[in-house]
Amino acid sequence: MAINRVPTTPFSDQRPGTSGLRKKVTVFQQPRYVENFIQAIFDTVDGAEGATLVIGGDGRYFNETVIQMALKMAAANGFARILVGRRGLLSTPAASCVIRKHKAIGGLVLSASHNPGGPDGDFGIKFNMAHGGPAPESFTEAVFKRASAMAEYRIVDAPDVDLGRLGETRLGDATVQVIDPVADYAELMESLVDFQRISELFRSGFRMRFDALSAVTGPYAKAILEDRLGAPAGTVVNAEPKPDFGGHHPDPNPVHAHDLMDLMYGPDAPDFGAASDGDGDRNMIVAPGLFVTPSDSLAILTAHAHLAPGYQGGLTGVARSMPTSRAADRVAAKLGIRSYETPTGWKFFANLLDAGLITLCGEESAGTGSNHIREKDGLWAVLLWLDILAEIKKPADQIVRDHWASYGRDYYSRHDYEDLDTKAANDLMDKLRGKLATLPGQRFGDLTVEHCDDFSYTDPVDGSVTPRQGIRILFKEDARAVFRLSGTGTSGATLRVYLERFEPDVSRHDLAVADVLAPVANAANEIADIVRLTGRDAPSVIT
Ligand code: G6P
Ligand code: ZN
Repeated sequence: MAINRVPTTPFSDQRPGTSGLRKKVTVFQQPRYVENFIQAIFDTVDGAEGATLVIGGDGRYFNETVIQMALKMAAANGFARILVGRRGLLSTPAASCVIRKHKAIGGLVLSASHNPGGPDGDFGIKFNMAHGGPAPESFTEAVFKRASAMAEYRIVDAPDVDLGRLGETRLGDATVQVIDPVADYAELMESLVDFQRISELFRSGFRMRFDALSAVTGPYAKAILEDRLGAPAGTVVNAEPKPDFGGHHPDPNPVHAHDLMDLMYGPDAPDFGAASDGDGDRNMIVAPGLFVTPSDSLAILTAHAHLAPGYQGGLTGVARSMPTSRAADRVAAKLGIRSYETPTGWKFFANLLDAGLITLCGEESAGTGSNHIREKDGLWAVLLWLDILAEIKKPADQIVRDHWASYGRDYYSRHDYEDLDTKAANDLMDKLRGKLATLPGQRFGDLTVEHCDDFSYTDPVDGSVTPRQGIRILFKEDARAVFRLSGTGTSGATLRVYLERFEPDVSRHDLAVADVLAPVANAANEIADIVRLTGRDAPSVIT
Protein backbone atom coordinates (compact mmCIF):
# COMPACT_ATOMS: atom_id res chain seq x y z
CA MET A 1 0.00 0.00 0.00
CA ALA A 2 1.30 3.46 -0.89
CA ILE A 3 2.85 5.58 1.82
CA ASN A 4 2.24 9.24 1.10
CA ARG A 5 4.76 11.83 2.20
CA VAL A 6 2.73 14.98 2.57
CA PRO A 7 4.45 18.35 2.85
CA THR A 8 3.47 20.26 5.97
CA THR A 9 4.28 23.60 7.51
CA PRO A 10 5.67 23.61 11.05
CA PHE A 11 3.58 24.89 13.96
CA SER A 12 5.28 26.86 16.72
CA ASP A 13 2.56 26.40 19.35
CA GLN A 14 2.72 22.61 19.78
CA ARG A 15 4.45 22.51 23.16
CA PRO A 16 2.76 19.80 25.25
CA GLY A 17 2.12 20.44 28.94
CA THR A 18 2.32 17.64 31.51
CA SER A 19 -0.93 16.22 30.19
CA GLY A 20 -0.12 16.54 26.50
CA LEU A 21 -1.16 19.16 23.97
CA ARG A 22 -4.50 20.65 25.00
CA LYS A 23 -6.23 23.30 22.96
CA LYS A 24 -9.58 24.29 21.52
CA VAL A 25 -11.02 21.87 18.95
CA THR A 26 -10.89 24.71 16.40
CA VAL A 27 -7.11 24.92 16.81
CA PHE A 28 -6.74 21.18 16.16
CA GLN A 29 -9.01 21.54 13.11
CA GLN A 30 -6.49 23.72 11.27
CA PRO A 31 -5.21 21.92 8.18
CA ARG A 32 -2.31 19.53 9.00
CA TYR A 33 -2.22 20.62 12.67
CA VAL A 34 -2.98 17.13 14.03
CA GLU A 35 -0.80 15.35 11.44
CA ASN A 36 2.11 17.66 12.22
CA PHE A 37 1.95 16.95 15.95
CA ILE A 38 1.47 13.19 15.60
CA GLN A 39 4.39 12.97 13.15
CA ALA A 40 6.53 14.88 15.66
CA ILE A 41 5.61 12.29 18.32
CA PHE A 42 6.37 9.35 16.03
CA ASP A 43 9.71 10.90 15.05
CA THR A 44 10.58 11.21 18.73
CA VAL A 45 9.61 7.64 19.74
CA ASP A 46 12.70 5.50 19.82
CA GLY A 47 12.23 2.09 18.18
CA ALA A 48 8.85 2.50 16.49
CA GLU A 49 9.88 0.03 13.77
CA GLY A 50 8.16 -3.31 14.47
CA ALA A 51 6.71 -2.14 17.81
CA THR A 52 3.17 -2.21 19.23
CA LEU A 53 1.30 1.09 19.67
CA VAL A 54 -1.93 1.73 21.59
CA ILE A 55 -4.46 4.35 20.44
CA GLY A 56 -7.64 5.46 22.19
CA GLY A 57 -9.48 8.47 23.50
CA ASP A 58 -12.27 9.70 25.73
CA GLY A 59 -14.86 9.90 22.95
CA ARG A 60 -15.10 13.66 22.84
CA TYR A 61 -15.87 15.59 19.66
CA PHE A 62 -13.15 15.04 16.98
CA ASN A 63 -11.98 11.77 18.66
CA GLU A 64 -12.79 9.42 15.77
CA THR A 65 -11.44 11.77 13.10
CA VAL A 66 -8.08 11.95 14.86
CA ILE A 67 -8.07 8.20 15.57
CA GLN A 68 -8.41 7.46 11.84
CA MET A 69 -5.55 9.84 11.02
CA ALA A 70 -3.39 8.39 13.79
CA LEU A 71 -3.99 4.81 12.64
CA LYS A 72 -2.99 5.58 9.04
CA MET A 73 0.05 7.55 10.18
CA ALA A 74 1.14 4.83 12.62
CA ALA A 75 0.94 2.28 9.80
CA ALA A 76 3.12 4.55 7.64
CA ASN A 77 5.65 5.04 10.43
CA GLY A 78 6.70 1.43 10.89
CA PHE A 79 4.61 0.27 13.87
CA ALA A 80 3.85 -3.41 13.35
CA ARG A 81 0.79 -3.70 15.56
CA ILE A 82 -1.72 -1.09 16.60
CA LEU A 83 -4.27 -1.73 19.34
CA VAL A 84 -7.25 0.61 19.25
CA GLY A 85 -10.31 0.65 21.49
CA ARG A 86 -13.70 -0.11 19.90
CA ARG A 87 -15.35 3.13 18.73
CA GLY A 88 -11.97 4.73 19.43
CA LEU A 89 -12.59 4.60 23.17
CA LEU A 90 -10.04 3.99 25.90
CA SER A 91 -10.14 5.70 29.27
CA THR A 92 -6.80 7.12 30.38
CA PRO A 93 -6.30 4.41 33.06
CA ALA A 94 -7.36 1.69 30.60
CA ALA A 95 -4.84 3.00 28.05
CA SER A 96 -2.14 2.80 30.72
CA CYS A 97 -3.24 -0.76 31.54
CA VAL A 98 -3.31 -1.88 27.88
CA ILE A 99 0.13 -0.37 27.15
CA ARG A 100 1.65 -2.25 30.08
CA LYS A 101 -0.13 -5.54 29.50
CA HIS A 102 0.64 -5.75 25.78
CA LYS A 103 4.19 -4.44 26.17
CA ALA A 104 3.50 -1.61 23.76
CA ILE A 105 6.15 0.99 23.10
CA GLY A 106 3.59 3.59 24.19
CA GLY A 107 0.20 4.99 23.39
CA LEU A 108 -1.61 7.99 21.99
CA VAL A 109 -4.31 9.09 24.40
CA LEU A 110 -6.77 11.57 22.95
CA SER A 111 -8.33 13.58 25.73
CA ALA A 112 -8.65 16.96 27.36
CA SER A 113 -9.58 15.27 30.66
CA HIS A 114 -12.30 17.17 32.53
CA ASN A 115 -12.40 20.15 30.16
CA PRO A 116 -15.71 20.61 28.30
CA GLY A 117 -16.04 18.95 24.87
CA GLY A 118 -17.93 19.64 21.66
CA PRO A 119 -17.10 21.75 18.58
CA ASP A 120 -16.44 24.77 20.81
CA GLY A 121 -14.81 22.73 23.57
CA ASP A 122 -11.32 21.39 24.09
CA PHE A 123 -9.33 18.53 22.58
CA GLY A 124 -6.01 17.01 23.52
CA ILE A 125 -3.33 14.56 22.40
CA LYS A 126 -0.94 12.98 24.86
CA PHE A 127 1.73 10.32 24.50
CA ASN A 128 2.24 7.72 27.23
CA MET A 129 5.47 5.74 27.47
CA ALA A 130 6.04 1.98 27.76
CA HIS A 131 5.53 2.10 31.55
CA GLY A 132 2.01 3.39 30.88
CA GLY A 133 2.53 6.88 32.24
CA PRO A 134 2.73 10.29 30.54
CA ALA A 135 5.92 11.12 28.65
CA PRO A 136 8.53 13.04 30.66
CA GLU A 137 9.48 16.58 29.85
CA SER A 138 12.61 15.52 27.94
CA PHE A 139 10.32 13.68 25.50
CA THR A 140 7.66 16.38 25.22
CA GLU A 141 10.31 19.07 24.65
CA ALA A 142 11.80 16.98 21.85
CA VAL A 143 8.31 16.65 20.31
CA PHE A 144 7.85 20.41 20.53
CA LYS A 145 11.19 21.06 18.78
CA ARG A 146 10.39 18.54 16.08
CA ALA A 147 6.88 20.00 15.55
CA SER A 148 8.37 23.45 15.05
CA ALA A 149 10.61 22.20 12.26
CA MET A 150 8.42 19.64 10.49
CA ALA A 151 8.60 19.42 6.69
CA GLU A 152 6.39 16.41 5.90
CA TYR A 153 4.28 13.72 7.51
CA ARG A 154 3.75 10.11 6.46
CA ILE A 155 0.35 8.48 6.03
CA VAL A 156 -0.93 5.40 4.21
CA ASP A 157 -3.55 5.86 1.55
CA ALA A 158 -6.33 3.56 2.78
CA PRO A 159 -10.03 3.59 3.66
CA ASP A 160 -11.03 4.20 7.29
CA VAL A 161 -10.77 1.28 9.71
CA ASP A 162 -14.14 -0.02 10.91
CA LEU A 163 -13.87 0.83 14.61
CA GLY A 164 -17.21 -0.76 15.45
CA ARG A 165 -16.07 -4.31 14.84
CA LEU A 166 -13.67 -6.21 17.15
CA GLY A 167 -10.79 -8.04 15.49
CA GLU A 168 -7.81 -7.62 13.22
CA THR A 169 -7.39 -5.85 9.88
CA ARG A 170 -4.36 -4.98 7.78
CA LEU A 171 -3.48 -1.36 7.26
CA GLY A 172 -0.42 -0.93 5.05
CA ASP A 173 2.21 -3.21 6.54
CA ALA A 174 0.67 -3.01 10.01
CA THR A 175 -1.96 -5.06 11.81
CA VAL A 176 -4.71 -3.05 13.48
CA GLN A 177 -6.55 -4.80 16.27
CA VAL A 178 -9.81 -3.28 17.46
CA ILE A 179 -10.05 -4.33 21.12
CA ASP A 180 -12.80 -4.32 23.70
CA PRO A 181 -11.81 -1.19 25.66
CA VAL A 182 -12.98 -2.70 28.95
CA ALA A 183 -11.67 -6.31 28.92
CA ASP A 184 -8.01 -5.88 29.95
CA TYR A 185 -8.92 -3.20 32.47
CA ALA A 186 -11.65 -5.32 34.07
CA GLU A 187 -9.24 -8.25 34.35
CA LEU A 188 -6.72 -6.02 36.15
CA MET A 189 -9.41 -4.77 38.53
CA GLU A 190 -10.40 -8.34 39.31
CA SER A 191 -6.84 -9.05 40.44
CA LEU A 192 -6.90 -6.10 42.85
CA VAL A 193 -10.31 -6.20 44.53
CA ASP A 194 -12.56 -9.07 45.53
CA PHE A 195 -15.31 -9.21 42.86
CA GLN A 196 -17.07 -12.02 44.74
CA ARG A 197 -17.32 -9.99 47.93
CA ILE A 198 -18.57 -6.89 46.09
CA SER A 199 -21.19 -9.00 44.23
CA GLU A 200 -22.44 -10.27 47.58
CA LEU A 201 -22.68 -6.69 48.81
CA PHE A 202 -24.95 -5.80 45.86
CA ARG A 203 -26.94 -9.02 46.35
CA SER A 204 -27.57 -8.03 49.96
CA GLY A 205 -29.42 -4.92 48.73
CA PHE A 206 -26.62 -2.36 48.81
CA ARG A 207 -27.38 0.46 46.35
CA MET A 208 -25.13 2.99 44.70
CA ARG A 209 -25.16 5.57 41.93
CA PHE A 210 -22.23 6.04 39.58
CA ASP A 211 -22.51 9.21 37.49
CA ALA A 212 -20.34 8.91 34.36
CA LEU A 213 -21.24 12.49 33.37
CA SER A 214 -21.75 11.29 29.74
CA ALA A 215 -18.02 10.66 29.47
CA VAL A 216 -15.78 7.64 28.92
CA THR A 217 -16.29 5.73 32.18
CA GLY A 218 -19.91 4.88 31.30
CA PRO A 219 -19.07 1.66 29.39
CA TYR A 220 -16.47 0.67 32.01
CA ALA A 221 -18.77 1.23 34.98
CA LYS A 222 -21.71 -0.51 33.29
CA ALA A 223 -19.61 -3.54 32.31
CA ILE A 224 -17.97 -3.89 35.70
CA LEU A 225 -20.56 -2.66 38.22
CA GLU A 226 -23.78 -3.77 36.52
CA ASP A 227 -22.77 -6.73 34.29
CA ARG A 228 -19.99 -8.29 36.36
CA LEU A 229 -20.79 -7.30 39.94
CA GLY A 230 -24.58 -7.44 39.69
CA ALA A 231 -25.47 -3.88 40.63
CA PRO A 232 -29.05 -3.21 39.43
CA ALA A 233 -29.52 -1.78 35.93
CA GLY A 234 -29.61 1.98 36.21
CA THR A 235 -26.87 2.12 38.86
CA VAL A 236 -24.69 3.87 36.28
CA VAL A 237 -26.27 7.07 35.00
CA ASN A 238 -25.20 9.26 32.07
CA ALA A 239 -23.49 6.09 30.88
CA GLU A 240 -23.35 6.83 27.17
CA PRO A 241 -20.18 8.74 26.17
CA LYS A 242 -21.25 11.78 24.16
CA PRO A 243 -19.05 14.01 21.97
CA ASP A 244 -20.04 17.07 24.03
CA PHE A 245 -20.55 15.12 27.29
CA GLY A 246 -24.25 15.97 26.99
CA GLY A 247 -23.36 19.52 27.95
CA HIS A 248 -21.93 18.32 31.27
CA HIS A 249 -18.72 19.77 32.57
CA PRO A 250 -17.17 16.35 33.22
CA ASP A 251 -15.25 17.33 36.35
CA PRO A 252 -16.30 15.24 39.35
CA ASN A 253 -16.58 17.79 42.14
CA PRO A 254 -19.54 18.96 44.22
CA VAL A 255 -20.12 21.94 41.93
CA HIS A 256 -20.17 20.13 38.57
CA ALA A 257 -21.61 16.80 39.78
CA HIS A 258 -24.53 18.60 41.44
CA ASP A 259 -27.16 16.00 40.47
CA LEU A 260 -25.23 13.34 42.37
CA MET A 261 -24.76 15.69 45.31
CA ASP A 262 -28.50 16.48 45.41
CA LEU A 263 -29.33 12.77 45.39
CA MET A 264 -26.78 11.86 48.06
CA TYR A 265 -27.91 14.70 50.35
CA GLY A 266 -31.63 14.02 49.78
CA PRO A 267 -34.15 11.63 51.37
CA ASP A 268 -33.66 8.89 48.73
CA ALA A 269 -29.88 8.70 48.95
CA PRO A 270 -28.50 5.26 48.08
CA ASP A 271 -25.69 3.76 50.18
CA PHE A 272 -22.88 5.17 48.08
CA GLY A 273 -22.29 7.70 45.30
CA ALA A 274 -19.40 8.17 42.88
CA ALA A 275 -18.48 10.00 39.68
CA SER A 276 -15.57 10.20 37.29
CA ASP A 277 -14.26 12.73 34.79
CA GLY A 278 -14.04 13.02 30.98
CA ASP A 279 -11.21 10.50 30.52
CA GLY A 280 -11.83 8.41 33.64
CA ASP A 281 -8.80 9.18 35.78
CA ARG A 282 -10.45 11.37 38.43
CA ASN A 283 -12.99 10.24 41.03
CA MET A 284 -15.48 11.68 43.44
CA ILE A 285 -16.83 9.79 46.44
CA VAL A 286 -20.02 10.75 48.30
CA ALA A 287 -21.46 8.93 51.31
CA PRO A 288 -25.11 9.55 52.18
CA GLY A 289 -25.22 13.16 53.38
CA LEU A 290 -21.43 13.43 53.36
CA PHE A 291 -19.06 14.44 50.56
CA VAL A 292 -15.72 12.72 51.10
CA THR A 293 -12.88 15.08 50.22
CA PRO A 294 -10.23 13.54 47.93
CA SER A 295 -7.74 14.12 50.75
CA ASP A 296 -9.86 12.12 53.21
CA SER A 297 -10.53 9.47 50.59
CA LEU A 298 -6.79 8.92 50.11
CA ALA A 299 -6.33 8.63 53.88
CA ILE A 300 -9.23 6.18 54.26
CA LEU A 301 -8.03 4.02 51.35
CA THR A 302 -4.52 4.03 52.85
CA ALA A 303 -5.88 2.86 56.20
CA HIS A 304 -7.94 0.03 54.70
CA ALA A 305 -6.27 -1.03 51.44
CA HIS A 306 -4.75 -4.15 53.05
CA LEU A 307 -8.30 -5.58 53.16
CA ALA A 308 -8.31 -5.87 49.35
CA PRO A 309 -6.51 -8.82 47.71
CA GLY A 310 -4.21 -6.59 45.63
CA TYR A 311 -2.80 -4.91 48.72
CA GLN A 312 -2.99 -7.61 51.38
CA GLY A 313 0.77 -7.54 51.91
CA GLY A 314 0.41 -3.94 53.10
CA LEU A 315 1.65 -0.72 51.54
CA THR A 316 5.29 0.29 51.10
CA GLY A 317 4.46 3.99 51.38
CA VAL A 318 1.98 6.66 50.36
CA ALA A 319 2.38 9.98 48.55
CA ARG A 320 0.20 13.06 48.29
CA SER A 321 0.64 16.32 46.44
CA MET A 322 1.63 19.23 48.68
CA PRO A 323 -1.77 21.01 48.70
CA THR A 324 -3.55 17.73 49.56
CA SER A 325 -4.42 17.65 53.27
CA ARG A 326 -2.14 15.92 55.73
CA ALA A 327 -4.75 13.26 56.58
CA ALA A 328 -2.85 10.51 54.70
CA ASP A 329 0.37 11.36 56.61
CA ARG A 330 -1.41 10.59 59.89
CA VAL A 331 -2.37 7.14 58.63
CA ALA A 332 1.14 6.48 57.31
CA ALA A 333 2.60 7.39 60.70
CA LYS A 334 0.30 4.92 62.44
CA LEU A 335 1.06 2.18 59.89
CA GLY A 336 4.78 2.85 60.20
CA ILE A 337 5.21 3.53 56.47
CA ARG A 338 6.81 6.50 54.72
CA SER A 339 4.68 9.34 53.39
CA TYR A 340 5.91 11.64 50.63
CA GLU A 341 4.85 15.17 49.77
CA THR A 342 5.25 15.95 46.06
CA PRO A 343 4.47 18.98 43.89
CA THR A 344 1.07 19.12 42.18
CA GLY A 345 1.01 16.89 39.07
CA TRP A 346 0.68 13.15 38.69
CA LYS A 347 4.08 12.79 37.02
CA PHE A 348 5.85 13.31 40.36
CA PHE A 349 4.46 10.00 41.63
CA ALA A 350 5.93 7.97 38.76
CA ASN A 351 9.49 7.73 40.10
CA LEU A 352 8.22 6.79 43.57
CA LEU A 353 5.98 4.07 42.09
CA ASP A 354 8.70 2.74 39.76
CA ALA A 355 11.17 2.59 42.66
CA GLY A 356 8.63 0.74 44.82
CA LEU A 357 8.70 3.48 47.49
CA ILE A 358 4.93 3.93 47.46
CA THR A 359 1.89 1.77 46.77
CA LEU A 360 -0.86 4.44 46.89
CA CYS A 361 -0.93 8.10 45.95
CA GLY A 362 -3.46 10.87 45.58
CA GLU A 363 -4.21 14.51 45.07
CA GLU A 364 -6.78 17.03 46.29
CA SER A 365 -7.71 17.51 42.61
CA ALA A 366 -9.62 14.20 42.75
CA GLY A 367 -6.93 11.83 41.50
CA THR A 368 -6.20 8.61 43.39
CA GLY A 369 -4.10 5.73 42.21
CA SER A 370 -1.77 2.87 43.00
CA ASN A 371 1.15 0.96 41.58
CA HIS A 372 -1.19 -1.05 39.29
CA ILE A 373 -0.75 1.48 36.43
CA ARG A 374 1.00 4.82 35.90
CA GLU A 375 -2.05 7.06 35.72
CA LYS A 376 -4.61 8.00 38.31
CA ASP A 377 -7.65 5.77 38.13
CA GLY A 378 -11.20 6.87 38.91
CA LEU A 379 -13.11 3.58 38.71
CA TRP A 380 -10.34 1.73 40.56
CA ALA A 381 -10.79 4.09 43.53
CA VAL A 382 -14.54 3.43 43.48
CA LEU A 383 -13.98 -0.35 43.38
CA LEU A 384 -11.49 -0.21 46.25
CA TRP A 385 -14.04 1.75 48.29
CA LEU A 386 -16.69 -0.86 47.46
CA ASP A 387 -14.40 -3.72 48.49
CA ILE A 388 -13.68 -2.00 51.80
CA LEU A 389 -17.42 -1.35 52.35
CA ALA A 390 -18.15 -5.01 51.55
CA GLU A 391 -15.56 -6.21 54.05
CA ILE A 392 -16.24 -3.77 56.92
CA LYS A 393 -20.03 -3.91 56.45
CA LYS A 394 -20.63 -0.46 57.86
CA PRO A 395 -22.31 2.50 56.13
CA ALA A 396 -19.89 4.67 54.14
CA ASP A 397 -20.53 7.76 56.27
CA GLN A 398 -19.82 5.69 59.38
CA ILE A 399 -16.47 4.61 57.97
CA VAL A 400 -15.57 8.26 57.42
CA ARG A 401 -16.66 9.29 60.92
CA ASP A 402 -14.84 6.33 62.47
CA HIS A 403 -11.74 7.38 60.57
CA TRP A 404 -11.97 10.92 61.97
CA ALA A 405 -12.51 9.51 65.47
CA SER A 406 -9.30 7.47 65.18
CA TYR A 407 -7.10 10.01 63.44
CA GLY A 408 -8.78 13.38 63.93
CA ARG A 409 -10.46 15.38 61.15
CA ASP A 410 -8.62 17.59 58.67
CA TYR A 411 -11.28 20.16 57.72
CA TYR A 412 -10.48 21.12 54.16
CA SER A 413 -11.63 23.49 51.44
CA ARG A 414 -10.26 25.05 48.25
CA HIS A 415 -11.01 28.60 47.14
CA ASP A 416 -10.41 29.30 43.45
CA TYR A 417 -10.14 32.79 41.97
CA GLU A 418 -10.55 32.12 38.26
CA ASP A 419 -9.75 34.14 35.16
CA LEU A 420 -7.59 36.71 36.96
CA ASP A 421 -5.37 39.08 35.11
CA THR A 422 -2.13 37.08 34.75
CA LYS A 423 0.07 39.94 35.85
CA ALA A 424 -2.06 40.63 38.93
CA ALA A 425 -1.89 36.95 39.91
CA ASN A 426 1.88 36.82 39.46
CA ASP A 427 2.26 40.04 41.45
CA LEU A 428 0.26 38.55 44.31
CA MET A 429 2.50 35.49 44.43
CA ASP A 430 5.66 37.63 44.20
CA LYS A 431 4.54 39.92 47.01
CA LEU A 432 3.70 36.90 49.14
CA ARG A 433 7.12 35.37 48.49
CA GLY A 434 8.72 38.67 49.36
CA LYS A 435 7.20 38.76 52.84
CA LEU A 436 7.68 35.13 53.87
CA ALA A 437 10.67 35.94 56.09
CA THR A 438 8.62 38.41 58.14
CA LEU A 439 5.58 36.21 58.75
CA PRO A 440 6.65 33.73 61.45
CA GLY A 441 5.38 34.87 64.85
CA GLN A 442 2.79 37.27 63.37
CA ARG A 443 -0.84 36.93 64.45
CA PHE A 444 -3.82 37.03 62.10
CA GLY A 445 -7.04 36.89 64.11
CA ASP A 446 -6.64 33.94 66.46
CA LEU A 447 -3.95 32.29 64.35
CA THR A 448 -0.19 32.67 64.68
CA VAL A 449 2.17 31.83 61.82
CA GLU A 450 4.60 29.16 62.90
CA HIS A 451 6.41 28.45 59.66
CA CYS A 452 6.17 29.30 55.98
CA ASP A 453 8.04 28.56 52.77
CA ASP A 454 7.88 28.27 49.00
CA PHE A 455 7.67 24.51 48.51
CA SER A 456 10.68 22.94 46.83
CA TYR A 457 10.76 19.24 46.05
CA THR A 458 13.79 17.00 45.89
CA ASP A 459 12.95 13.73 44.17
CA PRO A 460 14.22 10.96 46.46
CA VAL A 461 14.89 8.67 43.50
CA ASP A 462 16.87 10.82 41.06
CA GLY A 463 17.73 13.78 43.28
CA SER A 464 16.21 16.31 40.86
CA VAL A 465 15.01 19.54 42.47
CA THR A 466 11.73 21.28 41.53
CA PRO A 467 11.51 24.70 43.22
CA ARG A 468 8.67 27.27 43.63
CA GLN A 469 5.78 24.83 43.82
CA GLY A 470 3.46 26.89 46.00
CA ILE A 471 3.53 28.81 49.25
CA ARG A 472 2.79 26.98 52.50
CA ILE A 473 1.79 28.81 55.63
CA LEU A 474 1.55 26.73 58.74
CA PHE A 475 -0.14 28.12 61.83
CA LYS A 476 0.62 27.13 65.44
CA GLU A 477 -3.04 26.14 65.84
CA ASP A 478 -2.47 23.21 63.41
CA ALA A 479 -4.03 25.02 60.49
CA ARG A 480 -2.52 25.52 57.04
CA ALA A 481 -3.02 27.80 54.05
CA VAL A 482 -1.42 27.03 50.70
CA PHE A 483 -1.27 29.36 47.69
CA ARG A 484 -0.45 28.40 44.13
CA LEU A 485 -1.39 29.33 40.58
CA SER A 486 -3.14 26.66 38.54
CA GLY A 487 -1.09 25.03 35.83
CA THR A 488 -4.07 23.85 33.78
CA GLY A 489 -6.22 26.95 33.19
CA THR A 490 -7.08 27.97 29.64
CA SER A 491 -7.86 31.66 30.13
CA GLY A 492 -6.09 34.14 32.42
CA ALA A 493 -4.68 32.91 35.71
CA THR A 494 -6.36 30.95 38.49
CA LEU A 495 -5.26 31.46 42.07
CA ARG A 496 -5.91 28.44 44.27
CA VAL A 497 -6.03 28.89 48.03
CA TYR A 498 -6.14 25.59 49.93
CA LEU A 499 -7.34 25.83 53.52
CA GLU A 500 -7.23 23.23 56.24
CA ARG A 501 -7.46 22.88 59.99
CA PHE A 502 -6.90 19.81 62.09
CA GLU A 503 -9.47 18.93 64.73
CA PRO A 504 -8.65 16.03 67.05
CA ASP A 505 -11.76 16.47 69.27
CA VAL A 506 -14.46 14.04 68.14
CA SER A 507 -17.23 16.22 69.60
CA ARG A 508 -16.23 18.87 67.06
CA HIS A 509 -16.29 16.68 63.95
CA ASP A 510 -19.75 17.72 62.76
CA LEU A 511 -19.27 21.44 62.34
CA ALA A 512 -19.86 23.33 59.10
CA VAL A 513 -16.63 23.28 57.07
CA ALA A 514 -16.94 26.96 56.13
CA ASP A 515 -17.31 27.98 59.80
CA VAL A 516 -14.29 25.98 60.94
CA LEU A 517 -12.16 27.36 58.12
CA ALA A 518 -13.36 30.99 58.26
CA PRO A 519 -10.46 32.12 60.49
CA VAL A 520 -7.95 30.40 58.18
CA ALA A 521 -9.59 31.97 55.12
CA ASN A 522 -9.50 35.41 56.77
CA ALA A 523 -5.84 34.99 57.68
CA ALA A 524 -5.02 33.84 54.15
CA ASN A 525 -6.84 36.83 52.66
CA GLU A 526 -5.04 39.22 54.96
CA ILE A 527 -1.59 37.70 54.42
CA ALA A 528 -1.86 37.64 50.62
CA ASP A 529 -3.96 40.81 50.34
CA ILE A 530 -6.24 38.92 47.96
CA VAL A 531 -9.14 41.36 47.75
CA ARG A 532 -6.98 44.37 46.97
CA LEU A 533 -4.57 42.64 44.59
CA THR A 534 -7.18 40.68 42.61
CA GLY A 535 -10.08 43.10 42.82
CA ARG A 536 -12.30 40.17 43.85
CA ASP A 537 -14.11 40.13 47.16
CA ALA A 538 -14.97 36.41 46.97
CA PRO A 539 -13.62 33.27 45.29
CA SER A 540 -15.25 32.18 42.00
CA VAL A 541 -15.55 28.56 43.12
CA ILE A 542 -15.42 26.97 46.56
CA THR A 543 -15.06 23.19 46.75
C1 G6P B 1 -3.98 17.73 36.19
C2 G6P B 1 -2.97 16.75 36.66
C3 G6P B 1 -3.09 16.52 38.14
C4 G6P B 1 -3.01 17.84 38.88
C5 G6P B 1 -3.97 18.83 38.33
C6 G6P B 1 -3.68 20.19 38.94
O1 G6P B 1 -5.26 17.22 36.35
O2 G6P B 1 -3.16 15.51 36.00
O3 G6P B 1 -2.07 15.67 38.55
O4 G6P B 1 -3.29 17.67 40.24
O5 G6P B 1 -3.83 18.93 36.93
O6 G6P B 1 -4.38 21.20 38.30
P1 G6P B 1 -4.13 22.73 38.62
O7 G6P B 1 -5.15 23.42 37.78
O8 G6P B 1 -4.37 22.92 40.09
O9 G6P B 1 -2.69 23.05 38.25
ZN1 ZN C 1 -8.86 13.34 33.66
